[in-house]
Amino acid sequence: MLDDSLAVLRARWYLRNATSLGERVRLWGRPIVRNHGSLVIGQRACLVSGGLPIQLTTERDGKLEIGARTFMNYGCSIIATKLISIGPNCKLGMEVLMMDNDFHQIDPVERGARPASAPIVLEENVWLGARVIVVSGVTIGADSVVAAGSVVTRDIAPRSFAAGQPARVIRSVDD
Ligand SMILES: CC(C)(COP(=O)(O)OP(=O)(O)OC[C@H]1O[C@@H](n2cnc3c(N)ncnc32)[C@H](O)[C@@H]1OP(=O)(O)O)[C@@H](O)C(=O)NCCC(=O)NCCS
Repeated sequence: MLDDSLAVLRARWYLRNATSLGERVRLWGRPIVRNHGSLVIGQRACLVSGGLPIQLTTERDGKLEIGARTFMNYGCSIIATKLISIGPNCKLGMEVLMMDNDFHQIDPVERGARPASAPIVLEENVWLGARVIVVSGVTIGADSVVAAGSVVTRDIAPRSFAAGQPARVIRSVDD
């Protein structure tokens, strides 16, 4: 309980640059926060940032929303240039990576030109295993699970279990 109260205080201090911080957000360790846009963290979200820090970045027009009661483990790196919306009750394993912009182009001549951003949306109660990568423009439906080490390049319907590179739906979470 005491540790919980310290975690609430730690969140208030280390997440002080957030645009909005909900009630009883808890934090362990020190995150790296660069909020140049909008960073909204919902109530009772829980961030474990010991050892390998969590990195939360918003660019000037970028919005990052972390839903109420969502859990984020150490080493997660999230870069919002437009919109990354993580719903309530989600669970992000260690070293999850999400970027809503690819930053470079495949065309060698255009490589230095930044492509358009496309939002990433995690609906509620999504569980991403350790080291999952979600690329720009992807929506992962409510209650879905993505297995560790997967790379999500296409939308995933609600209540799916997906795995692999690229991630493919293997079954429903109800099977
Ligand atoms: C989500 C998870 C627990 C599911 O495991 P599971 O119940 O054993 O999965 P299943 O047995 O239903 O696997 C179904 C298929 O997906 C495959 N699969 C499971 N995990 C996979 C992965 N990470 N990458 C690729 N394929 C995977 C299995 O090989 C199996 O394929 P097969 O039928 O051809 O053999 C597991 O995939 C996982 O990611 N574990 C790590 C969780 C984690 O990162 N925790 C960190 C703290 S949040």
